[in-house]
Amino acid sequence: MNFPILQKSFSLKNFNTFGIESIADSFLEISEVKQLEVFSKLSQNPRPWRVLGGGSNVLLEKFTSGTVLKNSIRGITLLEENRDSVIVRVGSGENWHEFVMYAVKQGWGGIENLALIPGTVGAAPIQNIGAYGVEVKDTITEMEVWIWDENRLVTFENAACDFGYRDSIFKNKLKGRFYVCSITFKLSKAPKLHTDYGAIKDELTSMQCDPSIANIAQAVINIRKSKLPDPKVIGNAGSFFKNPTIASSHYKELKEKFPSIPGFSTQEDTLIKVPAAWLIEQCGWKGFRRGNVGVHDRQALVLVNVGGAIGTEIWELSQEILSSVEAKFDILLEREVQTW
Ligand code: EPU
Repeated sequence: MNFPILQKSFSLKNFNTFGIESIADSFLEISEVKQLEVFSKLSQNPRPWRVLGGGSNVLLEKFTSGTVLKNSIRGITLLEENRDSVIVRVGSGENWHEFVMYAVKQGWGGIENLALIPGTVGAAPIQNIGAYGVEVKDTITEMEVWIWDENRLVTFENAACDFGYRDSIFKNKLKGRFYVCSITFKLSKAPKLHTDYGAIKDELTSMQCDPSIANIAQAVINIRKSKLPDPKVIGNAGSFFKNPTIASSHYKELKEKFPSIPGFSTQEDTLIKVPAAWLIEQCGWKGFRRGNVGVHDRQALVLVNVGGAIGTEIWELSQEILSSVEAKFDILLEREVQTW
């Protein structure tokens, strides 16, 4: 095992999809679990220890204290295969979209609706990524996670991960205490295809294609490309806020005042999920620009760095959006993007 070189005063500009300049105190690239074992015994490494995947869900400040560990643990291993399904273990530093496309090519279904989501495989379960009617939690069997304060690799079965909408144990009880090393997925050779999401149906029709794993992945790619800004062109971190759930009585009141308000039922009868993008758009933010920051003109949930923004500018804009949504609808939005 080679131990990677620790770099001081390292620029993270090319390591976060907002494209924000932030100088990390210390920076290290991890490509093997063994390196974590050695690293966690070197107590002189400045704390806190922060794990960086694709940098697609993080808002950085000008300086990042402590040690940033860039995740480069790679590898896709087929553990089991039968007529109906496969069990596959994936290194947490693999690129998520590349893994989705690899699975699609093999004819393994379950994650095709999650094509083109930025970030790494290891980051996917932390916020339980989801799109077009599918959440990653439904394909994960277990995860191998290094726990800093126990100095050991722990296996988390799916049920132990406390998955919820854009949520898991790793954003709560275990926040800042772990490093995801690998994820094991169960994928199906004859999956239930999720085409119920209106946009997918429409896209498949305009592609003149029948639903299949590959066609759904392509439909999702087309939809995402048409609505969501490419971080290589304009800095952003996808949805900045979560979609809120509100009491159905509150929703009823809002529906009387704002008849076009969309609402989706949830597993609980008393709660309705409302698209944050709609609330933000109604407050007049869609397409808004000020200085270096703005709100995307095709999806109001996405805040953008139009060039040279610092983290606080984006944070302040998000605060103004939160306040206006609260004032107009009495709904307090929650940020999906993480800060360090
Ligand atoms: N809408 C607006 N204005 C907009 C955009 C959307 O009013 O600018 C309303 C429309 O009523 C639309 C509804 O919001 O019908 C839902 O819009 P969309 O299908 O685009 O989905 P979303 O709820 O805004 C969520 C995820 C996205 C994911 C899409 C598709 C969250 C926080 N976001 O967005 O995830 O791609 O569904 O499934 O749950 C991400 O997390 O980075 C992300 C992009």
